Amino acid sequence: MVLGHAHPRMTRALKTAAARGTSYGAPTALEIELARRIKQAVPSIELVRFVNSGTEATMSALRVARAFTGRDKIIKFEGCYHGHADGLLARAGSGAMTLSLPDSPGVPASFTEQTLIARYNDPDSVRSLFQNLGGEIAAVIIEPLAANMGVVKPQTGFLNGLRDITREYGSLLIFDEVITGFRLAFGGAQGLFGIKPDITCLGKIIGGGLPVGAYGGRKEIMELVAPLGPVYQAGTLSGNPLAMTAGIEALRILSRPGTYEKLENLGNALERGLQEAVKSNGQKVTISRMGSLLTMFFSREPVTDYDTAKLSNVELYKVFFHQMLKRGIYLPPSQFEALFISLSHRQSDIRQTVKAAGESFRAMRPGK
Ligand SMILES: Cc1ncc(COP(=O)(O)O)c(C=O)c1O
Repeated sequence: MVLGHAHPRMTRALKTAAARGTSYGAPTALEIELARRIKQAVPSIELVRFVNSGTEATMSALRVARAFTGRDKIIKFEGCYHGHADGLLARAGSGAMTLSLPDSPGVPASFTEQTLIARYNDPDSVRSLFQNLGGEIAAVIIEPLAANMGVVKPQTGFLNGLRDITREYGSLLIFDEVITGFRLAFGGAQGLFGIKPDITCLGKIIGGGLPVGAYGGRKEIMELVAPLGPVYQAGTLSGNPLAMTAGIEALRILSRPGTYEKLENLGNALERGLQEAVKSNGQKVTISRMGSLLTMFFSREPVTDYDTAKLSNVELYKVFFHQMLKRGIYLPPSQFEALFISLSHRQSDIRQTVKAAGESFRAMRPGK
């Protein structure tokens, strides 16, 4: 159910210990308890490994995907963020077929050249990569609800299409649910959209505010991870009791009846209030929301991918951000980050936010 985190060089010692019936290197009771709760909520996860961050989770998920398939290349989507591992700090070149260039100084081009970039909500961009390089693609990694280019919803059939094409080419589907897991729904985006990925990455929420990450999925894949299998991955602080305890408590609170209904009601009230403020002030703003995640794009164009997200007027967002801050509302400091509603928020907070938005828009009118 949960993989312990012993060093693979200890495999022989572990086997000996197991034969003697000792639990050397085995997961702790706290790891087992958090794993049990995660597995119950996210049934695609048959075996899970705890790590210390979302970055570690995606990096390690890709390693085991490559080992399982014996292939090197991966597909990621333009505008999706999966942490700061070298190979994932890659953006698209001029087109979907372009091998990507590093996004940051210090990342050698050779590290990102195995990363192929497709366009979110564009099944053809994925299909053409598979048609050309299908036998070399280990996995497709995606935020099932994109939240790092602002909130961008998957269009009907898009995620299902990814499930089908990865199966067709013997490649794995990895859902990065570091943001959406236990936030969008208790079972994550995959529960909501009814799609079973091969591997899921989690973080943030499952640590209740402490540093944590996890990756898990089909047993036959996860069994390749050391110490059960040969794929090296370990971490001194992985599965530490503090993070596990906070995670268990967070999931216990989230599992209470009415949690996600409350978040949806707050989200809906915020969306409608902001919509009204936008309309009555003649602003060019498009609101994208799902559950407790929301982005106000300063653009009138519907946002479906990174290119359309980038049409937003970031200068205007900056002005709005500061107007809101003056009124005591601290929004995400970037146009391309999502706003999150938490269980601590109340309808009075939503009303205050909507009122501040109306005042901010009025203050932004030309001549003010
Ligand atoms: C979708 C997604 N994946 C991975 C990560 C990386 O997680 P961490 O910052 O814990 O390394 C993030 C961080 O925001 C994220 O949003």
